[in-house]
Amino acid sequence: MLKPQLLKLLSNLPNTQKVQQRKAFLMFIGFDQLASKIDLEGDNFSFFAGLIEVLTLEGQASLLEFIDNLIESPWSGLDSGERLKSLRSRIAELEAGQWRREFFGEVDNGHSLQHPPQNIPRSGTAKFVGRSKELETLHNYLQRPGVDVTIVGMGGVGKTELAIQYAQQYWQEFYPGGVCWLRARASNVGAQIVEFVQLYMGLSAPQTLMGLKLDQQVKWCWQNWQPPRLPILVVIDDVTDYEGIQPYLPPANLRFKVLITTRIRWLVQSFVELYLDILHESAAIDLLKTFLGTERLEQEFLIAKELCNWLGYLPLGLDLVGRYLQRKRDLLLEDLLNQRLEKERLDQQSLQKPKPDMTAQLGMEETFKLTWQELDTQAQQLGCLLSLFTLAPIPWSLVELCFPDQDLKNLEDIRDDSLFNLNLLQRTGKNTYQLHQVVREFLKGQLEQSDWANNFICL
Ligand SMILES: Nc1ncnc2c1ncn2[C@@H]1O[C@H](COP(=O)(O)OP(=O)(O)OP(=O)(O)O)[C@@H](O)[C@H]1O
Ligand SMILES: [Mg+2]
Repeated sequence: MLKPQLLKLLSNLPNTQKVQQRKAFLMFIGFDQLASKIDLEGDNFSFFAGLIEVLTLEGQASLLEFIDNLIESPWSGLDSGERLKSLRSRIAELEAGQWRREFFGEVDNGHSLQHPPQNIPRSGTAKFVGRSKELETLHNYLQRPGVDVTIVGMGGVGKTELAIQYAQQYWQEFYPGGVCWLRARASNVGAQIVEFVQLYMGLSAPQTLMGLKLDQQVKWCWQNWQPPRLPILVVIDDVTDYEGIQPYLPPANLRFKVLITTRIRWLVQSFVELYLDILHESAAIDLLKTFLGTERLEQEFLIAKELCNWLGYLPLGLDLVGRYLQRKRDLLLEDLLNQRLEKERLDQQSLQKPKPDMTAQLGMEETFKLTWQELDTQAQQLGCLLSLFTLAPIPWSLVELCFPDQDLKNLEDIRDDSLFNLNLLQRTGKNTYQLHQVVREFLKGQLEQSDWANNFICL
């Protein structure tokens, strides 16, 4: 067994008996952030046992990095250096399953290993395009000890899809304890956790807890999570209200990693934020190509580029329109763009409710309506006014001129706390803002339906 061998070797290292020596050791190796997570008192054996435990939870790469740094350090003498090198190469060769057996003591025929609990939704995409950097960044963030992440971006930009892809691609290697996928908009998150534990682990909170509050039942669930000790990814999709989910979050502990998707900026100050932007043109074209095929795309390549631009490179729009074009095989892209989209705008059939196999649950108009409903009247009116500007960066001083009687501080608060915060408005430079193409279309539509057009003074 590699773990006991490693522990024995580390316990015999010189100059690691005292707390100060241990701190210096961790600092020199470049792992001083672990000092707060392990017990620095006690004998050498328990100090290194705690250290290996933490490194193991962080993953194979962390443990290898630690050994590499140790080999280079004055703590490893000639003899232990050679033995460390040999252990290192054996650890590096471990496949995911072997790694779990060696370092978590998992047994292959155990129920937990064959069926780690996970309920990652199916992705509806035929091809996931253009997000390799974001996937990598997300993974790097989540691998940092104690770091949880929010994916933030406007409606339809692909936050849920990115979380699905991440969970699917990484869970077996990095979250062998499973993935608990929760939908914040669907129903109470606490009730979903209790249900997950019942369904996937066959566990129910004891009777004594049944009469207690939901958050206490949920605490019991986290404490009794199966299989024990293995790292787990908890995804909470589409959070609109942090206070509503806070009582149900897992304990701050290296075992549970939390990933939230949300349209709201700065939802949780203590989480690292990954801002998700629209797709690059090449990725947008690539996505259209999966629906149209190479030949059809090449026949109208320039129009396809225009279409991507009209849709503001938003994955939701591209996905909806791509599927529509796939069904309408004889429809020219040019006709769709000029005769249908330009006239009917977001009401166009191609942008309506998605097919059930899509990741997105709503059409374009409904997607933005959800955010619209969260705005108060003043913010709705300001948004509508902004939709009257051309699609270009808007100097804020111009907006202020439109409201000569308005308290400028109030106007700024509406901009920052509502439109910007909910990702309807982008900041393009100092005091310069711009609406996304599709958001602008949506707000224009809202303006037409309202009786504010001639009455902005009321703001
Ligand atoms: N990189 C991508 N490649 C292919 N399809 C994508 C990509 N990103 C998103 N999509 C598709 O675009 C649609 C919208 O994505 P998604 O539902 O993830 O958006 P969202 O940001 O979570 O929106 P909301 O704020 O409404 O929850 C989905 O159908 C999804 O499958
Ligand atoms: Mg989503």
